[in-house]
Amino acid sequence: GHYKTRAAEASSEELGVEKYLQLFQLSPEMLQEVSARLRKDLLRGLGKHSHHKAPVKMLPTFVRATPDGTEKGDFLALDLGGTNFRVLHVRVEEEAQKVLKMDSQICAIPQEMMLGTGEQLFDHIATCLGDFLESQNLKGKTLPLGFTFSFPCEQLEIDKSILIRWTKGFNCSGVEGKDVVQLLKEAIHRRGDYDIGSVAMVNDTVGTMMSCGYRDQSCEIGMIIGTGTNACYMEEMKNVKRIEGADGRMCINTEWGGFGDDGSLDDILTEFDVEVDKTSINPGVHMYVSQLFRIITPPPFEKMISGMYLGEIVRLVLVKMTKDKLLFKGQISETLGTPGQFETKFISEIEDGLENAKKILTELGLDWDPVDACVVRLVCDTISSRSARLCAAALATLVNRIRNNRKLDHLKTTVGVDGTVYRKHPTSKLQKAVRLLAPQCDITFLVSEDGSGKGAAMVTAVAQRLAHQFPVILNSSDLFVSK
Ligand code: BGC
Repeated sequence: GHYKTRAAEASSEELGVEKYLQLFQLSPEMLQEVSARLRKDLLRGLGKHSHHKAPVKMLPTFVRATPDGTEKGDFLALDLGGTNFRVLHVRVEEEAQKVLKMDSQICAIPQEMMLGTGEQLFDHIATCLGDFLESQNLKGKTLPLGFTFSFPCEQLEIDKSILIRWTKGFNCSGVEGKDVVQLLKEAIHRRGDYDIGSVAMVNDTVGTMMSCGYRDQSCEIGMIIGTGTNACYMEEMKNVKRIEGADGRMCINTEWGGFGDDGSLDDILTEFDVEVDKTSINPGVHMYVSQLFRIITPPPFEKMISGMYLGEIVRLVLVKMTKDKLLFKGQISETLGTPGQFETKFISEIEDGLENAKKILTELGLDWDPVDACVVRLVCDTISSRSARLCAAALATLVNRIRNNRKLDHLKTTVGVDGTVYRKHPTSKLQKAVRLLAPQCDITFLVSEDGSGKGAAMVTAVAQRLAHQFPVILNSSDLFVSK
């Protein structure tokens, strides 16, 4: 009893694991420094000439307006890039001011397909969509489609979007550098049994912002902390140097996951973060991508924050501690020794309570004692805190930027949020750190209701509404600035 309680409250120093965890514990000063570095990188991404070398891409989304409540109609939505691939039928109702999900279907993307050819991937997507339309009796309808494609894309128009790079374990050949809408349409035409209407390409952060914007007009930031991490926000057009026009605002997809790509965060990377590059794994499958396929280097900031990597980082720390005979009597179980086997969801489960921790350690085939369980909890807490606080530093950079843009002493704003990591962890650490780093901003967090599905339909609906209101302007509108 007494021994257990003491261990549960012990610090890393008392438990003798200080040296492993120290580098993960970022001081407020360091977080401030991270935020300052990102502030500079936002500018580089927005600049006309600095953009091509910028690690934070700051991609224009061509979304210039949030919903005004008069949108309506039936839409299809595709959602690729989170935990699952989904097809949805969404109805936007004007009178009720509601976005209704009529029906949806989840299609698994097999692991081989994530690493196969682009043609296979898009054929699979077209098949899932076809099956769904069939089951819903929608095949003859040619509905407009919002495509939530949650990877960094250079968007040229609302329906022209070039994939810059794969992330989150995807690595299909022949897609990087290509227009994703084109690839989707080609796959649908190869089948020839149905067609789709106009397409709007949407990043999940933008869908999240838009779905929250329907409920709260002051929602001008969308943030995802899930398999990957990213945020978008409303930027002044005059600062978006790569696009002509100085009036109004445009939503910018920051792609902050790439922060550090130029080495700017090397001083805070631990040996374990570096190790993850080598064992870059795909969830559930026990293979080293780097051994079988070309090496995918995960974006540095994303690596320290998102669900794709957190579990693996914890695993690498535990393996090292065990090898150094600090844990599990020096015995690594086969499961713990296998990349990808320590799932990110274990982290929040272990943090939830000592009993959970013990259960999971047993499932992992480890011979643990009470002190081991406490050390493991401490490791999980350290890694997830770092994730939350780094995310807070980045979010603080965005809200501070919006406040400065508008020359306000005080900014009150709403952030639409989604993602498994955000939903599963207590948000107090993130909120506390943002308050510290952005003291002049008052932030409300709003968890999005299916931004990738309903939000994508909203983006498409707003596009349609404006095209309808201003029919003279062909294919472009208040919402979409032509290049
Ligand atoms: C992608 C972003 C996406 C984020 C969250 C990242 O890997 O690059 O486009 O928004 O994951 O899903």
